[in-house]
Amino acid sequence: MTHKILIINGDGIGPEIIAEAHKVLAVVNEKHQLGLEFDHALLGGEAIDATGKPFPDETLAKSKEADAILFGAVGGPKWDKIDSAIRPEKGLLAIRSNLGLFANLRPAILYPQLADASSLKPEVVSGLDILIVRELTGGIYFGQPRGIRTLENGEREGFNTYVYRESEINRIGKVAFDMAMKRGKKVCSVDKSNVLEVTELWRERMEEVANDYPEAELSHMYVDNAAMQLVREPKQFDVIVTGNMFGDILSDQASMLTGSIGMLPSASLDESGKGLYEPCHGSAPDIAGQNKANPLATILSAAMMLRYSLNLGEVADEIEQAVSLVLDEGYRTVDILTDGCREVGTLEMGDLVAGQLK
Ligand code: IPM
Ligand code: MG
Repeated sequence: MTHKILIINGDGIGPEIIAEAHKVLAVVNEKHQLGLEFDHALLGGEAIDATGKPFPDETLAKSKEADAILFGAVGGPKWDKIDSAIRPEKGLLAIRSNLGLFANLRPAILYPQLADASSLKPEVVSGLDILIVRELTGGIYFGQPRGIRTLENGEREGFNTYVYRESEINRIGKVAFDMAMKRGKKVCSVDKSNVLEVTELWRERMEEVANDYPEAELSHMYVDNAAMQLVREPKQFDVIVTGNMFGDILSDQASMLTGSIGMLPSASLDESGKGLYEPCHGSAPDIAGQNKANPLATILSAAMMLRYSLNLGEVADEIEQAVSLVLDEGYRTVDILTDGCREVGTLEMGDLVAGQLK
């Protein structure tokens, strides 16, 4: 049996962090004869430079054929001034949308070894294990109409549309509850239903979905309060389910609880469990090419890929265990460096994890 994996480096630190995750996958592939086959494609800025488009047709074709996609990051100052219709980020949004990757899972887990690296007190974050389930192909990111128009008085106005259909809310709700049933059985749905009708409907649908999960507990929170509770008492959360934009914001916030955004992996899944796996952090152009980036979020994303799309949960466990052992030994990239630890670069961190697995 073979598994086709499409690798997309992207921009900034993308190539460096992907190289380390690829290294780790190659080791487990060899060790367990997993039958992983790798192919490559372009997305984002690198694709604009090569083809003029952020999401070339060839990348679409290859992603449809693949069993899973491992992706780095997109964007950078080089492309900040180009037409917004072909910005690098459009490539990422297009691949999510074209493949129907509506369920974005962003786990925020604190490795006990990193409790001191968090900007919050160790007792507030120790043992933290939150799963953010972010809707990824709808909401204000995709709603029509959108644009910048000129009013009669000549003033310009920017506008976007925040929409969710019942079916979109139901299916992401179901993912959140299915996930919760495998862990703490608690779902907190985050909305702004005191102001926005679209999230009034969101709240109502979540109640309905919850009826199918009598053993799970559903609570609701306004997004402003959720942002506050995440730093006040983050361990009250098990699964958080929310829309595209709130999920974007809250997942960055949750990542810092774990010490560094450089530790956070993610999975974006379609209805059948096929997925794209990427670190939650971006392309970090300021440190690109300097061997400074933390590859662990990407390595952990590769582990999620094995677990969710390829049904190789035990190998995923093994990779996560290897990451934990490397942290036990005191090795840290600069973003998670604390007193008494040994600083290593991107390459060395990848080698250390690969070495544990050999
Ligand atoms: C993310 C990123 C993207 C998003 C950007 C790069 C389009 O911030 O994956 O969280 O907003 O979804
Ligand atoms: Mg984001």
